[in-house]
Amino acid sequence: MLADLGIWTSEQDNMPIKDTWPYPKFVAHRGAGKIAPENTLSAMRLARSMGYSMVEFDVKLTNDDVLILLHDSSLARTTNGSGQAGDYSFAQLAQLDAGSWLGEAYAGETIPTLSAIAAYTIANSIASNIEIKATPGLETLTGTRVARQAKQDWANAEIPPLLSSFSEASLLAARLEAPGLPRGFISDELPENWLELMNRLECVSLHLRHSAVTQPVIQAVHQAGFRLAAWTVNEPQRAQQLLQWGADAIITDAIDRISPV
Ligand code: G3P
Ligand code: MG
Repeated sequence: MLADLGIWTSEQDNMPIKDTWPYPKFVAHRGAGKIAPENTLSAMRLARSMGYSMVEFDVKLTNDDVLILLHDSSLARTTNGSGQAGDYSFAQLAQLDAGSWLGEAYAGETIPTLSAIAAYTIANSIASNIEIKATPGLETLTGTRVARQAKQDWANAEIPPLLSSFSEASLLAARLEAPGLPRGFISDELPENWLELMNRLECVSLHLRHSAVTQPVIQAVHQAGFRLAAWTVNEPQRAQQLLQWGADAIITDAIDRISPV
């Protein structure tokens, strides 16, 4: 199928995303895993250079309502700043070095905005999985803002971004704001009420920690009409096994050892 290759066709326009699933099977986690500074433009560029045509990244709000890429609530691990990212304005955060923590080659790397990453990925035909990773307490607001911005930034993109989150509140807010954008529910384990959750949040995909994924789980998810993405799969053999079982996407840090081509 063309959709398996990530190629969109016009007759797919009116079909639900969970049926057409225009996304590649290999997804670079946080851009380039741990090989380039996570959630930066350099990471996205590296993923592309390694043949990846889809990236996952984490998005949260600054205190002046700008959407930025950052995994942790705290700035300490991946920047030379300190404190909570959500307490600062974008202008303040833009002064930080988000690359040196990984190596001098990345000194001066900045925290990107969601819109900057949209521009880069769309121009390079890279599909995006936007994880809504709200600062605690801001789940609903962040879900609304991400959906609004994504709708705008990806308005003319070939493939819509897949919005995902561990947070039900963020996904509900995203659904209200941009019902047409596909959503994925992320979980460490298969929740007992997964089917009810998927239906209530109107998700197209379930994103499970790979250790919770078995062949019967994939079969059950498919049987119910949903897609399954597994994270973070860093061993090539495990990636191969999951794909053989029918996983729809493998989200990996190991972009140097797991090749999409
Ligand atoms: O989107 C899947 C994965 O990124 C979830 O975990 O903590 O790496 O954002 P985390
Ligand atoms: Mg993530």
